[in-house]
Amino acid sequence: MNGEFVAWEDAKVHVLTHGLHYGTGVFEGIRAYDTAHGTAIFRHGDHLDRLFRSAELYYMPLPYSKEELRSATHELIGRNGLESCYIRPIAFRGYGMMGINPLEAPVDVSIAVWRWGAYLGEEGKEQGITAKVSSWRRISADSLIPHAKACGQYLNSALAKIESLKAGYQEAILLDDLGHVCEGSGENIYLVMDGKIHTPGQTASILDGINRKSIIQIARDLGHEVVERDIARAELYLADEVFMTGTAAELVPVREVDDHPIGGGRPGPITRELQRSFDDALHGRTERYREWLDVVPVASKAA
Ligand SMILES: Cc1ncc(COP(=O)(O)O)c(C=O)c1O
Repeated sequence: MNGEFVAWEDAKVHVLTHGLHYGTGVFEGIRAYDTAHGTAIFRHGDHLDRLFRSAELYYMPLPYSKEELRSATHELIGRNGLESCYIRPIAFRGYGMMGINPLEAPVDVSIAVWRWGAYLGEEGKEQGITAKVSSWRRISADSLIPHAKACGQYLNSALAKIESLKAGYQEAILLDDLGHVCEGSGENIYLVMDGKIHTPGQTASILDGINRKSIIQIARDLGHEVVERDIARAELYLADEVFMTGTAAELVPVREVDDHPIGGGRPGPITRELQRSFDDALHGRTERYREWLDVVPVASKAA
């Protein structure tokens, strides 16, 4: 926290922290995997780039460089002796000023790491999950910044997630103002139709997922056509396969949307193929994607 290593139970903030009241913070969700090269953080540089972009969009100068955050993360993983973990860097407007204007409040930065299993469950990754199209629309660029990963924006995801869970589904799918499919509450979404992979375009109201970029590249490398376009709600129901990607969830098949079974209610062959290749990339089993891995130096691990 702010340049110090702090024990888990001491990682506390004041109740008048600006970000707690107004959502004025930006964060990342990153994973490190146990690979043959050692503990390796998946696309660490890309996640840190997005953190800095999110901060810039909310006029929040970060008091550390990317390299400082990168090496602090290495040391943190080393000190905790973790082979694999979830990594949560967050920068937020801290204690000192109340009122809406965040510009006078300090910017606090912390990084936390912990062991975190499959976000939507191992069974979800294996068998697929059920999803509900939410009555809440995804935040639009008219009011907020869909491409930023900012704390307050997640109230939108939380409402959709709560609605889907209370209705008995595992995940929510949010549409945009025009009714086009956007994404899950914390994942990007893809449909397989006529042997091609379709996903909302980069300029849609989506978070520009790091795993989205990875899966598009992997799919194209495997010879699949990936089409970025507007997707209608009904196409979800009629798709041969649907899946989602995100750092927490990884690649998760969707077996049912609004009680319509997708592809017979089982993960389809393209989803399975991508899931295998993606898993190989995450775990450093594919030389081609080796550059995506930021290996934690052994010195950090001995620290
Ligand atoms: C709203 C939202 N969309 C998409 C994603 C997927 O992004 P990534 O693949 O970078 O984890 C996430 C997860 O961070 C998210 O919170």
